[in-house]
Formats: sequence, structure tokens, C-alpha cells
Amino acid sequence: MSVIETRDLRKTYGRIEALKGVSLRVEKGQIYGLLGQNGAGKTTLIKILLGIVGKTEGEALLLGAPAGAVEVRRKVGYLPEDHAFPGYHTGYSLMDFYGSLYGVPAAERAKKIPEALELVGIAGRMHSKIKTYSKGMKQRLGIAQALMHDPDLIILDEPTDGVDPMGRKEIRDLMADLKNKGHTIFLNSHLLGEVELICDRVAILQQGKLVREGTIDELTKTKGTYTLGLLAGQTFPTDAVTALGFPVRALPDTAGHFEVTLPDGKTIEPVMKLLSERGLTVVHIVEKKQSLEDVFMTTVEGAEPGVDRKRRRGARPVGGGE
Ligand SMILES: Nc1ncnc2c1ncn2[C@@H]1O[C@H](COP(=O)(O)OP(=O)(O)OP(=O)(O)O)[C@@H](O)[C@H]1O
Ligand SMILES: [Mg+2]
Repeated sequence: MSVIETRDLRKTYGRIEALKGVSLRVEKGQIYGLLGQNGAGKTTLIKILLGIVGKTEGEALLLGAPAGAVEVRRKVGYLPEDHAFPGYHTGYSLMDFYGSLYGVPAAERAKKIPEALELVGIAGRMHSKIKTYSKGMKQRLGIAQALMHDPDLIILDEPTDGVDPMGRKEIRDLMADLKNKGHTIFLNSHLLGEVELICDRVAILQQGKLVREGTIDELTKTKGTYTLGLLAGQTFPTDAVTALGFPVRALPDTAGHFEVTLPDGKTIEPVMKLLSERGLTVVHIVEKKQSLEDVFMTTVEGAEPGVDRKRRRGARPVGGGE
């Protein structure tokens, strides 16, 4: 049984199509990241899973039950995107309030609250009023609140929003820790570098459609691009390799490395054979990787107004020499 499963999930708000048929699965113990530009539909998907808004069509299952089912809701911790906790509460009293809502008995709350606040690094301020907290402290409190009742599934909408770099690292470590304890984490984030460090799988939503999905490894592997380097003093046979049907490009700012692109369905083998037949020695061979940001930029590029082409980075189709 998947922890989260959606099938052809659709949501319209009046004339706005926020989700246009999204199918995804999250398995137990995974950290799963949902990425997308502003307005892509990330929060909408989470709200449907939690039963905060209704779906228009399709299916959404949480721990095997239809999204929004009350008995399942208790097994889920949730950090909302724009939480505004009442400022008159202290960190402690807020946790106590949420804990009672989740049905955590008083004795257990008294034990768990300091522990959870310690985990997110704000135990020292737990008796101060929330209105005296910084943004990052409020965010940490929100995360602690989501962990309070030891949920199987933790859904975090922009968990590191407003948190400083050191704090983000702590939150990442905390997520890794929760994963090791068997919790499943589903998160939305704009911070691609961070998602790359922490998520097992990611999905990229674009204007309500799921356009990429897979493990970080699958998504960041540039299919069929190799960087090759020959022994110092040897000349790369660019023309011969190009004639074989493999586009070649000299890489600037490297120790004479060349980038070879594989046409569909071909391996690097014929290139290696040609080099060896010519008595050349390959001292460097690396299959190229993209960062998640590269993948994201290439995927969403030009999709909506507001995407500045200048921000485009990363692997482009490689032409013959430059
Ligand atoms: N209550 C609502 N009424 C009308 N339209 C809505 C409502 N909530 C969301 N939308 C619209 O649905 C689309 C998806 O919004 P959503 O909040 O899911 O995006 P998001 O991916 O979470 O964006 P962000 O990164 O900015 O948080 C947007 O076009 C938004 O304007
Ligand atoms: Mg959102």
C-alpha cells in the first residue's frame, strides 16, 4: 500500500484549473519532494490530500483511505504554508493545544512537547509568546507541531521558508532522522539544491501537470553525454568522432576535455574503439550529471511568462565544435 496515491487528480477553482490530472505515488519511508513554480498547484495537492479542499475529479488516497478521512488525519502531521499561529500563545501552549486536538493524552504531551521543541532547536524559548519569535523560530515551531503526535506521514509545505542556512541544515538532518525512524515525508519546496540533498524522489509540477517524476539520480543523469580527456599532448580526433555520428565539443576552461553526445540508442563504445585504434589513451571519462536546478530550469523553461530566459543554465543540446 502506498502512503500517498493520486490518480488523474483534477481540481478547478472556478475557471482556474489548478490540477490537470496528476498521478503519483509515495511509498513508505520515502522523502518525496514536490517542485514547481508559484501557482503550479503544489499547495492545492496537499490541501486535497488533507481534505482541506475537495477534489474536482480523480482519486486521492492517503494510507489507503480516501483523502480527508478522519481516522487517517490523525496519522498525518502537517505544516501549512502560511501558518499564522496566534501570537498570544507561547510555543509550549500552542503545542499543548494542537496535541490535544490530535488526541495526545496530557501526560504524554507534557513529555513530548519539550522533546519536540528541543529537536527543532527552540526549547529555550518555549515559554515566550509566539509574537516575540522570529520568522525562522515560528517555522521551527510549525515543524515541531507537525511532529507532535508521532505521525506516520509528515506533510510539509515549504519547511525551510524563512529559516537561515544553519537552521535549514538542521531541518534537513531532522528529516533524515525521521526517515530513518520509518516516517514518510512529503514536502513542497522551491529550494532545489536542498531538495536534491534530502529527497529520494521528486515530481515537478507545471501549471497543474506533472511533467517529470523520478529519483534524483534518474532526473539528474544527462542521458548520453560524456566528458573525455586524453593523455597530455595527444590530439582529440574531433573530425573523425563527428564523422562517426557523435557530436563533439571542446570544453573551455578544462585540461583539454571534450564533450561527446550520444545519438539516441548509441553507446560510447564506438568512440572508445576509434580512440584506441588510433593509439590514443583516455585518461578521463565521466558521464555528465545535471543539478536538479538545471533539470528544473530546462523543464519549466518558457512555460509561463515570468520565466526569464537569462536564468537558463545547464546542459544544452550540443552542436558540433564551437
Ligand atoms: N482558494 C482558491 N481560489 C481560487 N484559486 C485558487 C485558490 N487556491 C489556489 N488557487 C489557484 O490555483 C493555482 C495553484 O495554486 P497553489 O497555491 O496550489 O500553487 P503553489 O504551487 O502552491 O504555488 P506557491 O509556490 O506560490 O505556493 C493558482 O493559479 C492559484 O491562483
Ligand atoms: Mg504553495
